[in-house]
Amino acid sequence: MSRNYYIAGNWKMHKTRSEAAELAKALVTQLKDGKHKYLVAPSFTALETVAAIVKGTNILLGAQDVASEEQGAHTGEVSVLQLKDLGVQAVILGHSERRHVYKEDDELINKKVKLALKHGFEVILCVGELLEEREAGKAEAVCETQTVKGLEGVSAAELSKITIAYEPVWAIGTGKTATPEDADAIHAYIRKVIGKLYGADAAAKIIIQYGGSVKADNAAQLMAKENIDGALVGGAALKADTFVPIAKFG
Ligand code: PGA
Repeated sequence: MSRNYYIAGNWKMHKTRSEAAELAKALVTQLKDGKHKYLVAPSFTALETVAAIVKGTNILLGAQDVASEEQGAHTGEVSVLQLKDLGVQAVILGHSERRHVYKEDDELINKKVKLALKHGFEVILCVGELLEEREAGKAEAVCETQTVKGLEGVSAAELSKITIAYEPVWAIGTGKTATPEDADAIHAYIRKVIGKLYGADAAAKIIIQYGGSVKADNAAQLMAKENIDGALVGGAALKADTFVPIAKFG
């Protein structure tokens, strides 16, 4: 079964509005003839600016997180309703920085996943093991738990809105990439988990991105692997010069 490649840029806590606008404009121009699916996820403060630039192009607008409640007394949080109002189409959930720095657990992430789906957003659900978990032989188990718990209560119909991003925590922002073989093995395992939950057809269709120090010079080798369907890119997504070659790999 052929799956479309999906390349997403997570800009994390970088860029003022004018810097974000500059990058978004460059990407719109340079990815106009790109063949894959694309997304950029700026900070909340730059979403409106970037929305105006990517609207009607082949680049989707994503947010890096969303609150688990629809609205209310939640100081510092951003609601799905507010994101929808800005034209956001997708949300990244369960990023390892949210899990490990801000202590989000699977239950909270699952609540966010369900709320985002209810409001019609696409979701990129991030999973991935810590170095000590990999060294203890627990990489598959950790990814399975995060996948199963993250998707609890998600229907088969809603699954078409879900992308999984496998991001080994030890590879994020460190310059260390999983080898294409190691990454592919975990992707295959996650696909098997999806198969157990939703059946073989859903497993064959789901897009599984790899994330963790993806660069122009390793993107093609990673994505040549059978189970790697794209990339969630951090550092290299901050400049058109480094993101475009990844987005146009192959
Ligand atoms: P990196 O980040 O590409 O800088 O390793 C990836 C991510 O956190 O999504």
